[in-house]
Amino acid sequence: MDDTQPKKILVIDDEIYIRDSVIGFLEDFGFEVIDAENGRIGLEKFESQKPDLVLCDLRMPEMDGLEVLANVAEKNPKIPIIIVSGAGNISDTVEALRLGAWDYIIKPIQDMTVLYHAVNKVFERAEFIEEKHQYRRDLEKANVELKVSLETLEHARDQLVQSEKMAALGELVAGVAHEINTPVGVGVTAASFLDAKTTEFKKVYSAGELKRSELENYLQTVEEVSNSILINMERAAELISSFKQVAVDQSSENRRRFNLKQYINEILLSLRPRYKKTGHTIEVICEDNIELNSFPGAFSQILNNMIMNSLIHGFEGIEKGQIRIEITRAQGMIHFVYKDNGNGMTPEQKEKAFDPFYTTMRGKGGTGLGMSIVFNLVTQTLKGSMECESTEGQGACFTMIFPEHWEQG
Ligand SMILES: Nc1ncnc2c1ncn2[C@@H]1O[C@H](COP(=O)(O)OP(=O)(O)OP(=O)(O)O)[C@@H](O)[C@H]1O
Ligand SMILES: [Mg+2]
Repeated sequence: MDDTQPKKILVIDDEIYIRDSVIGFLEDFGFEVIDAENGRIGLEKFESQKPDLVLCDLRMPEMDGLEVLANVAEKNPKIPIIIVSGAGNISDTVEALRLGAWDYIIKPIQDMTVLYHAVNKVFERAEFIEEKHQYRRDLEKANVELKVSLETLEHARDQLVQSEKMAALGELVAGVAHEINTPVGVGVTAASFLDAKTTEFKKVYSAGELKRSELENYLQTVEEVSNSILINMERAAELISSFKQVAVDQSSENRRRFNLKQYINEILLSLRPRYKKTGHTIEVICEDNIELNSFPGAFSQILNNMIMNSLIHGFEGIEKGQIRIEITRAQGMIHFVYKDNGNGMTPEQKEKAFDPFYTTMRGKGGTGLGMSIVFNLVTQTLKGSMECESTEGQGACFTMIFPEHWEQG
């Protein structure tokens, strides 16, 4: 309904003086009024002029009020209709109300303000109904929009989780390639060196010019070089299995006996390229004779992550950082304490360091998986416990406690 336009009222009544008095009264209040002298003409005008309200007599020639009412109610039930009927037609008035009339006025209209109030009341009611409908339509629309937003959000969340996983996997693959590069490279160099030496040796031998010292020399080279190849290939194989373990494998196959101190030194050796050009130092304090029947791959993974974290996070902006690894044995348990004197962590960092995907280096190469993998290796594979102690500016300390021996299963 347009508020700027005057409201249009259709008056249907066969008595001309009634129409005239009603029209005059309503026009004084600013309404636009059209009229019809019987039901049939009234209905035609209803369709062609589209009034906002109908005032209708009941007893009329050609088509009576009830028939008009039934038609209006069917064509446009939103348009209010008020019955104006004689005092003797009570039963018809009741029937009209039953058919959908909004109100009724008794003729003759002695007090015109009754008419005015009735008209205003139905307009208010019509507006209220329209507002209610609009409100409901808005609500339904908002509901649909909300549903769509929710679906979009859920989809985005799934994609985010998926892309985090893919990024982690990408890092892992890059890590594998990088780590394995060194032992394989050394192996290839050693093998081609051996190949060249052998060709040279064959030449001298075929010419019948081989001296005993040359033979001894050659044999020693073969022994040294093949030993180096063996160590490096073993290291590569170990790396492959330990990376495999990072991904899922907790029930690792490569359980074997090894000397802890010796093995830690081997791991440090493989990490040397990462820190040898810095001023940082790594100190290991460990009894010589701790023999473990355990998972060397897990140790290498744990130390790799912790040392890389000290170098990247702890020693950022620090030239001469110190890492201290201290291992003691007590009542069948190994206490493995890893400490750096770097930047340390805020309470929030300390709290979340073991959470998967928590990193302060997002977008700068960190995936936030390192410490969560370490935590899983210590608690699941080594069946131990792990704690972190750190204060901002005062370094970080990780304490791992795990049994020296345990029953499998
Ligand atoms: N030695 C440390 N000194 C200071 N902060 C550390 C240290 N170790 C870990 N952190 C903090 O804990 C966070 C989580 O470490 P985590 O190894 O899980 O992830 P990351 O190193 O950021 O990424 P990546 O997955 O590449 O290892 C780091 O981002 C860093 O804020
Ligand atoms: Mg890390």
